[in-house]
Amino acid sequence: MGFFITFEGIEGCGKSTQLSLLKTRLEKGGRAVLGVREPGGTLLGEQVRSVLLNTTEEGIDPWAELFLYEACRAQLVAKVIRPALIEGKVVLCDRFYDSTLAYQGFGRGLDREKIAGLNTLATGGLVPDLTILVDCAEDVGLKRAWSRINAASGAKEDRFEKEDAAFHSRVREGFLEIARGASRVRVVDGSREISTVHREICDIIKGVAGL
Ligand SMILES: Nc1ncnc2c1ncn2[C@@H]1O[C@H](COP(=O)(O)OP(=O)(O)O)[C@@H](O)[C@H]1O
Ligand SMILES: [Mg+2]
Repeated sequence: MGFFITFEGIEGCGKSTQLSLLKTRLEKGGRAVLGVREPGGTLLGEQVRSVLLNTTEEGIDPWAELFLYEACRAQLVAKVIRPALIEGKVVLCDRFYDSTLAYQGFGRGLDREKIAGLNTLATGGLVPDLTILVDCAEDVGLKRAWSRINAASGAKEDRFEKEDAAFHSRVREGFLEIARGASRVRVVDGSREISTVHREICDIIKGVAGL
C-alpha cells in the first residue's frame, strides 16, 4: 500500500502551494506521487466542481451541497485514490472529508454526526494516513485568496469566498477542533513564509512516513 496525505485549511492558507512543493520534492526523491483535488480529480468530479463553485440565483440547499461533495468524493476514492494506493503511490489530496465537516458542519451548522456518517459511506472507510492542517487567520487567508483571484484576469470569486468573515472563522475553528480529536492531523502555522512552511511539512512527513 502507498501513503495517503490530505491537505486541509481555509481558503488561501496555502494548501495548493504546499501540496505542489511537496509533490515536486517527493518526486525528486524518486517516489511515485499522485496529486488530486477535491471536489474534482475525476471527469464526474470536475463537472460537479464547476456546479459547486458557481453561484446561481436559485442557490444550493446545504444538504444538496453536501451530497454533491460526497458524490465527488465517492467517485474520486473509488476511481483514483484507492487504485493509486494499491499501486503503492503516495497520494496527495487537496482537501478531503475534514473540509466537509469544517464547512458544512462547523460553517453551515449541519449535524456533524450525520456528516461524519456520510463521509464514511462516501470513502468506504478510507482514512488519510496523515493530514496536514495549514492554519492561518481567516483575514490572512482571504486576502491571499483575493489577490490570487485578482491576478487571474476574469476569474470570479466562488461561493465560499463570498461568505462573511464569521463563517470563515467558524470553519477555521472547526478545523482546529477536528485536529484536536484526531492524531492523524498535524497543524502547521501557515502564516509564515512559504519555504518555512514547506520545510516543516517535509520534517513531519519524514517523521511520520519516512518519506
Ligand atoms: N505562506 C505564504 N505566504 C504568502 N503567500 C502565500 C503563502 N502560501 C500561499 N501564498 C499565496 O497565497 C495564495 C493562495 O495560496 P493557495 O496555495 O492557492 O491557497 P489554498 O490552496 O489554501 O486556497 C497564492 O497566491 C499563493 O501564492
Ligand atoms: Mg487551493
